[in-house]
Amino acid sequence: MEFKSKIRTIQWVDTYSRMVNQTLFPYEFKYVDIKDGESMYRAIKDMIVRGAPAIGIAGAHGVVLYAQELQSLPKEEFIPKLLEKADYMASSRPTAVNLMWAVKKQKDIILNSKSDVKGIVEELKQNAIKLENEDIEINKRIGDFGAQVVPKGATILTHCNAGALATVGYGTALGVVRSAFANDPTIQVFADETRPRQQGARITTLELTMDGIPTTLITDGMCSYFMKKGMIDMVVVGADRIAANGDSANKIGTYTVAIAAKYHNIPFYIAAPLSTIDISIKSGDEIPIEERSHDEVTHINGKAICADGVNIINPGFDVTPHELITGIITEKGILKPDYEKSILNCFEKLSL
Ligand code: MRU
Repeated sequence: MEFKSKIRTIQWVDTYSRMVNQTLFPYEFKYVDIKDGESMYRAIKDMIVRGAPAIGIAGAHGVVLYAQELQSLPKEEFIPKLLEKADYMASSRPTAVNLMWAVKKQKDIILNSKSDVKGIVEELKQNAIKLENEDIEINKRIGDFGAQVVPKGATILTHCNAGALATVGYGTALGVVRSAFANDPTIQVFADETRPRQQGARITTLELTMDGIPTTLITDGMCSYFMKKGMIDMVVVGADRIAANGDSANKIGTYTVAIAAKYHNIPFYIAAPLSTIDISIKSGDEIPIEERSHDEVTHINGKAICADGVNIINPGFDVTPHELITGIITEKGILKPDYEKSILNCFEKLSL
């Protein structure tokens, strides 16, 4: 069966980047064109585009936008200025390593190209388009590997949105759901609401219902209740950064789901491309966790939901320790514990 909604979250068009404006969900499904580097920096920071693989591509597009703006400079000025802008782009959000990964791919071109300025701009553009197209292929492979571990008729719990709308298309965790559903239309999804930004409610339910995949929305605190009742067969979530030992950062609340899954003996999988694995860091303790605006907690749809002046802390992500993870589903297969070994083997084999 085909992925019906065929959402393309982000796409390079001629001289600019076109993306779905995710701040409008679920009320509107609209595209916005981003035509300069600073607007791309803001689009990433303000979560017009979001989800680790999607913001990686947005970062690559952002470098092309800056390159276009600087192309009248002589090469000796163009290179250092563009490198500075690339670093600025990479600093737009701190946790998802795909952003730094994609910007680094662009920096490698800036540093190594023998072309003139015009040629470099063209190379950066072609590289961004290549990364964009590869993302969909990678997600389909993740989906197909993941589908092999989905039991027949399974109810799959997911947290946040690791779907087509967190990537260029198809999705990582929801890619697994899509590939499994293609073979077995009796599977269904339980989607955590995912406070505070409600990506589960606003985005996951939207894209799954567009594809006709049966989906039940639950609030974050309900997951263990349904696990105890035997209503959840497996958990699949995405990741924003995975350390060399398998510790995985994902949207805040994921860790709680993983603990509940372990207690109830339910398999807990991470689905992510290899670009989400940061082998430069040994453990999850080194993953920078984004602290987001307090309004996300105090307000819903612009209305305050708590007493004025209450203390707020709002970390955007948490880290699930590797011991709680049954497997990491990648485009090269499912990595299993001992992750330190399986991740290293995989990177060595692929010379990454
Ligand atoms: O803050 P966001 O919405 O950009 O968070 C990223 C995510 O959507 C999740 O953490 C997701 O599960 C991993 S990205 C495929």
